[in-house]
Amino acid sequence: MNTLTPHSVSVITGGGRGIGRAVALRMALETAVIVVGRIEADLLSACAEIAAAGGQAVHVVGDVRDRETAQRAVALARAKGWTVRNLVCNAGIGKSGPFETFDPTLWQEILDVNLNGAFHFCQACLPEMLADGGTICLMSSIAGLKGYAHDAAYDASKHALVGLARSLAQEFGKRGISVVPICPGFVEGHMTERTVRGVMTRRGMTHEEATARVAHANPQRRIIPEAEIAEAVAFVCSGKVPSLSGNPLVLSGGE
Ligand SMILES: NC(=O)c1ccc[n+]([C@@H]2O[C@H](COP(=O)([O-])OP(=O)(O)OC[C@H]3O[C@@H](n4cnc5c(N)ncnc54)[C@H](OP(=O)(O)O)[C@@H]3O)[C@@H](O)[C@H]2O)c1
Repeated sequence: MNTLTPHSVSVITGGGRGIGRAVALRMALETAVIVVGRIEADLLSACAEIAAAGGQAVHVVGDVRDRETAQRAVALARAKGWTVRNLVCNAGIGKSGPFETFDPTLWQEILDVNLNGAFHFCQACLPEMLADGGTICLMSSIAGLKGYAHDAAYDASKHALVGLARSLAQEFGKRGISVVPICPGFVEGHMTERTVRGVMTRRGMTHEEATARVAHANPQRRIIPEAEIAEAVAFVCSGKVPSLSGNPLVLSGGE
């Protein structure tokens, strides 16, 4: 369904750091890679790491909230003679706070980056993918399947990504496109570190105690390594199991 060629490329938003960077490094073992983000130094360093490992990577500096960022990524792929075969909409932000006083500007920003960014990239890349088939992974979260207090904006955006994936799977399934929402629990990196620091502040815990509390949310009592999420994305993008399409891939160790 998703036969890769030497001209295939994977587009990864938020590919300069965190989970997106791990996905970019892993996908570079399969295809050329375009990493997208706002901080050029991070993108350049991801590309350099991929090149050092023998892969091919280029970057696009831009905000996923702007439609033209997605259009520039597709234009770059064309200029390189590449065909977009995999799209990983990973760029995301999360900010917590009580719903009653939640800043409407922040609400809009979270929805714009997490949901509208994915909309722009899916719309820009789909025409390229329809010719030969392809895979879209939408980086949702366990918060895309269940609710958490003080996280309404993030949870709403991540639930919406699951809905978007389900809808696109229905609309494009018979045209060779798989769309899978990826739903991790707590993963190592900046975002979870912010959660740990929040727990330290709210509960007066040490860093070690707060980390253990966050890890406790996973029945395996661990925070998931970024590389594990990247491996799951690579498996989905291998196209070996097209029936994954439209179904959340839950990477949480159990609920
Ligand atoms: N960490 C977790 O525990 C966890 C669990 C479940 C799901 N997730 C999801 O996984 C994804 C990656 O999370 P992470 O932990 O790797 O977070 P992170 O380290 O904070 O990285 C976020 C990435 O998104 C990019 N980004 C943010 N806003 C952007 C914008 N407006 N335009 C373009 N790029 C933007 C950032 O790049 P720039 O700063 O260069 O723009 C960065 O590469 C997110 O969607 C997150 O919700 C994370």
